[in-house]
Amino acid sequence: MDQKEILGQVAAEVMACTQCQLSVSRKNSVPGEGQSNAEVMFIGEGPGFYENEQGRPFVGPAGKFLDELLQRAGLHREKVFITNVVKCRPPGNRDPLPEELSACNNYLERQIEAINPIVIVTLGRYSMAKFMPNVRISDVHGQSRWVNGRLIVAMFHPAAALHQPSLKNAILEDFGRIQSYLTMARANCDIMQAVSPVPETSTEPAKKDESPTQLSLF
Ligand code: URA
Ligand code: SF4
Repeated sequence: MDQKEILGQVAAEVMACTQCQLSVSRKNSVPGEGQSNAEVMFIGEGPGFYENEQGRPFVGPAGKFLDELLQRAGLHREKVFITNVVKCRPPGNRDPLPEELSACNNYLERQIEAINPIVIVTLGRYSMAKFMPNVRISDVHGQSRWVNGRLIVAMFHPAAALHQPSLKNAILEDFGRIQSYLTMARANCDIMQAVSPVPETSTEPAKKDESPTQLSLF
């Protein structure tokens, strides 16, 4: 199967999935969308009201703000891939539970493996914790680190930043650095992949420990 076929297969499984309780209350699951060989992947938390209605990621107010941020970063929505750590809406937009994160993790892993992005931008605490456990977003937002040959950049969640002026300034500034991270990743990902032959797997995202192959650059 090529990249597109794998992503289509994952999307079909997500749409029919009943692996966690979020399947009961969802209207539409939201597998994610974008270019199958995107250099940059954005990973949010989970679908909200509008995403659940439409089956597409980041289409509500947070999505409008993300579009603005992407523009600021010099990126086009169709050229990146956008998804979430959980593919179905947590009722009332509550935080996803550990068992929901672990039930859904396999879909995200397969998407990352198929797309093979050189930069992953995490939006909010839950996707950050998958790659950078035991850090605080207020300490590391806008910073990057190599994890298994990809440059992971932690950002505040656009929905949180939309309503808090201090976070909004920070996220605008942080998105302004994406192009330089992309340049850095293009220049170094081959060597970083060669020194990090560990496959991208973590079924316990919040507890995953830093492996010795992870390097902090900032
Ligand atoms: N918030 C998220 O984390 N993901 C979406 O898709 C929409 C809002
Ligand atoms: Fe399946 Fe993920 Fe939806 Fe749970 S959130 S039902 S694991 S697709």
